[in-house]
Amino acid sequence: MTTYYDGGSGTPTTEVPTASAWGASTALPRDEFTGDLVCTALTPVTHDVLDVTLRAADGGTLPYSPGQYYTFTFPGLGPGGEGVDRCYSVSSAAAVTGGGVEELTITVKRVPGGPVSAFVHERLRVGDTLRADGPYGVFGSDVRPGAGALYLSAGSGITPFLSMMRTRAVLLEKGERSLPLWSSVVHVHAAHSPADLVHRVEVMGLSDRHETTVIPVCSADSPAEAWAGVRGRLTAQKLAVLVPDLMEREVLVCGPTAFMEAVVAMVVDLGVPAERIHLESYVFGEKPRVPVQASAGVFSIEFRGAGRTVSCPAGTTILAAAREAGVAHPSSCAEGVCGTCRATMVSGEVDMDHQGGIRPREVREGKILPCCSVPRTDIVLE
Ligand code: FES
Repeated sequence: MTTYYDGGSGTPTTEVPTASAWGASTALPRDEFTGDLVCTALTPVTHDVLDVTLRAADGGTLPYSPGQYYTFTFPGLGPGGEGVDRCYSVSSAAAVTGGGVEELTITVKRVPGGPVSAFVHERLRVGDTLRADGPYGVFGSDVRPGAGALYLSAGSGITPFLSMMRTRAVLLEKGERSLPLWSSVVHVHAAHSPADLVHRVEVMGLSDRHETTVIPVCSADSPAEAWAGVRGRLTAQKLAVLVPDLMEREVLVCGPTAFMEAVVAMVVDLGVPAERIHLESYVFGEKPRVPVQASAGVFSIEFRGAGRTVSCPAGTTILAAAREAGVAHPSSCAEGVCGTCRATMVSGEVDMDHQGGIRPREVREGKILPCCSVPRTDIVLE
């Protein structure tokens, strides 16, 4: 199984939320989902972006918070014909009264040479089913009511912010306070040209409503439109002018790796403390990590299923130790995002530095992600 994370890839439909997103669902509520989703709509958004709307085959609800993602399995797309997992942020509004929604939307950008996006754009049909597991991720979950936020995105990195802004609009239009809200949001989104602005009409319709300001920045004209808005590459000087109260805001960033590195350097240069910068990457292995605190010594890791016990030096992840010893263990992202390596720990203690690839319930049940867990003691895995 090969797994990729495509945190954003487009956007949702032009109407804001579905009826179910307003909390009107009568389907069976649940707080996690693993099963088949049926494609109910395919909606072109731009020349290379497509909305995919999905509902649970069993008729139940689909839970998620704004900013979370699901892992989808695309059978037969791997180099050897195996399934390929890919994570897509949900772009539609989340339920505001709990229990999930009846339909969710992911927004898929066509990636040149990418087998999954090619499949979605060319071969997926309404009525087809996709295996899905979720929701995962904590991006955007740390809302400090009363504080302001700055969203910085580029390209398909807009996707989690679409869900956040749509959900915010629903909450404020209904006068709901069932989810925490930023006092105000400024969203600076970078695109190549106006033709690449995803859900432009809807997103700009949110600007200057609900204490939300959207500032698109384009670096080029499109064939049909000379760009009259903010132009050129984002710089620290430009950002300081566009968002004069930047220092009072939490900063959330999602986009291609080069964009994220550049804007993080900008906001740090402008004086924003690191703890107020929150990142979501959709390229495995390229998101800055918080170093794991290691214990001392060498520990034994017993893989009961494989009938093997391996040595794991302190500070080494269990997955790395398994690989070093030639023990095959399922894995994909190797950084705590996808959940592929999930294992049950029979005994022992670990430090686990995951990025949303495991649910709190699973942690309570003794599950760990070996790819981002270092042992504190000897470990036995089921
Ligand atoms: S391999 Fe992805 S979470 Fe461990």
